[in-house]
Amino acid sequence: MLESVTDLAVLREQVAGWKREGLRVGFVPTMGNLHAGHHSLVRLAREHADRVVASVFVNPTQFGPNEDFARYPRTPDADRDGLAAAGADLMWLPSVDTMYPYGAAAAVEVRVPVVTAVLEGAHRPGHFDGVATVVSRLFHQVQPDVAVFGRKDYQQLAVIRRMVRDLAFPVEVLAAPTLREADGLAMSSRNQFLSAQERPVAAGIHQVLQGVRAAIQSGRSRGEVEEEARRRLRASGFQVDYVEVRTPDLLEPDDGVGGARVALVAARLGTTRLIDNLEFDA
Ligand code: PAJ
Repeated sequence: MLESVTDLAVLREQVAGWKREGLRVGFVPTMGNLHAGHHSLVRLAREHADRVVASVFVNPTQFGPNEDFARYPRTPDADRDGLAAAGADLMWLPSVDTMYPYGAAAAVEVRVPVVTAVLEGAHRPGHFDGVATVVSRLFHQVQPDVAVFGRKDYQQLAVIRRMVRDLAFPVEVLAAPTLREADGLAMSSRNQFLSAQERPVAAGIHQVLQGVRAAIQSGRSRGEVEEEARRRLRASGFQVDYVEVRTPDLLEPDDGVGGARVALVAARLGTTRLIDNLEFDA
C-alpha cells in the first residue's frame, strides 16, 4: 500500500518506525510527471532496500529565470498510480513551504564546486546549487540508507556523489541505467513538449552519441569528433549547447591514453532542451 505524506512529522515517524524494525530504507527523489525511467529507479531501490520512499517535488531553486518551472508538467494522480505499481511504500509530497520554511530566496544553500563549473553547470548557472540544496534537504527529511539516481542526468549524479562524500551523508548512492524509447530517445518528462515533426528528429541525439563512440574508439581525434557531432546535430535542426567527450569525472581526457569515457550532449529542438550521454571505453 502506497501512502501519500505531506507532513514532515508524519514522514519522520514512518521512517523512524521502519528503522526501529531494522528495515533498510531506499529513496528515489523526482520532480514528478513520472515515466518508465523513474519507475525503474523505484524497482532498483526495491532490490536494495526493504521500504522505498519516492519524493515528488518540482524544485523552484533549480530552474533558471527563463526556464520551464511554471510549465513543468504536474501529474500527481498518474504519478501515484505509477509509484504504487513500481512498488514504492511512501510518496513524499512536501510543499514549497515545507521544503523552504524561510522561502527559496532565503534558503541555506549547498553548493558543490568544481564539478559544476562545466557542461550543464556552465550553461545553467545556479542549477546544480538548487539540485544540491534540495537533495541535501530531502536526505535530511527522509534519512534513507540508499538513494537512486539516473545515469541520464550524468553530471547531476556526479554532483550528488561529491556532495554525499564531502558532507559525509550516511547514504549509499546507486546509479540506474537510462531507459530509452524504441528509437533510442532517452525518456524524459520534457519529450512531451516535442512536436510531431520534432519527435523523430530528437532520436538523432542517441545516434550521434553512438557515432561519437565509434569514432573515438577508432582512434580519431577528440576535438574533430566533437565538432563533427555538433555539425550533424545542427544539420538536423538542433541548437547545440555542447557535445563533449570526458572522463567519468567530467575532466578532459588525456588524448592517446585509453580508458573510460562519457560523451555528453545538450541541445535544443525548438523550445525543448534535451540532454543525453553515452558511457564507453576508449
Ligand atoms: P527528475 O528529472 O524527475 O528525475 C528524477 C530521477 O529520474 C533522476 O535521478 C533522473 O536521472 C532519473 N531519470 C530521468 N529520466 C530517466 C531515464 N530515461 N532513465 C533512467 N532514469 C531517469 O532529476 C531530478 O528530477 C531532480 O533534479 C531531482 C534529483 C529530483 C532534484 O530536484
